[in-house]
Amino acid sequence: MPVTAYDLTGRTAFVTGAAGGIGRASAVLLARAGATVHCADHDARRLSETADLVKAAGGSARTHPLDVTDRAALHRAVSSCERLDVLAAIAGIMHSSPVLDTRDEDLDRVLDVNFKGVLYACQEAARVMLARGVPGSIVTMASGAVDSGVPGLLAYGAAKAAVVQLTRILAAELGPHGIRVNAVAPGWIRTPMTDRHDDAVQARTESSMARLSPLGRVGEPEDVAHTVLHLASDASSFTTGQILRPNGGVAMPW
Ligand code: NAI
Repeated sequence: MPVTAYDLTGRTAFVTGAAGGIGRASAVLLARAGATVHCADHDARRLSETADLVKAAGGSARTHPLDVTDRAALHRAVSSCERLDVLAAIAGIMHSSPVLDTRDEDLDRVLDVNFKGVLYACQEAARVMLARGVPGSIVTMASGAVDSGVPGLLAYGAAKAAVVQLTRILAAELGPHGIRVNAVAPGWIRTPMTDRHDDAVQARTESSMARLSPLGRVGEPEDVAHTVLHLASDASSFTTGQILRPNGGVAMPW
């Protein structure tokens, strides 16, 4: 018997980054909870694999191959939704370089994808929710990088900190319209983004990250997807402007 507060039957969700580790797990879980899921990503091949997984889970999916930095493309995709109850703005890229070596083009690209891409998706989704009078939930993807000064993560951390501020400000502005806005700040999650493409390096990295957690492991995409589902659903109906941290209880040493 499903817990009804998590039931998304009849609701529609739009997920960016749906071809990636966390986005795909979130799209599948939202579909398993009953939502129709619109999946967006610029990786068209992996996006259609996600749609197949959603369908295999008994859900209904539509795909939107697009770049989240393309506001017009996002506008077309989001406004094609007959109704919109949930946005999960998950698309993002990683970049690491010491502050003194950070080039303008890297800074611009990371801020464009990780901040402006989230902003555009939030703006487009909120407009549809407001126009159709549907109380909604917007979930943004921040990172544990906002909680400490991780060496190398200037551009990434600055973009994610901006996402946190966007989340808080939007929550204040949209709350009176019945739209909740919350951020997820995961710890180390095993996805293509954290794949070191070398088994030995991967094992060393994961074991050092796992040692930072009282739970003694790194995260899986499904760990984050369950947080996304919680925030998307009525189970979190009195939660807005918050940052939830599926991070295994890690307190970063930096
Ligand atoms: P991933 O690399 O598996 O997924 C990211 C997805 O975003 C990919 O499918 C990629 O094609 C898509 N994407 C990138 N740029 C895009 C663009 N311009 N337009 C459309 N799609 C684009 O990575 P993962 O781990 O699933 O990351 C998802 C989110 O979670 C990201 O925002 C990331 O910063 C965040 N995150 C991940 C953590 C981790 O340890 N994996 C930790 C903290 C946050």
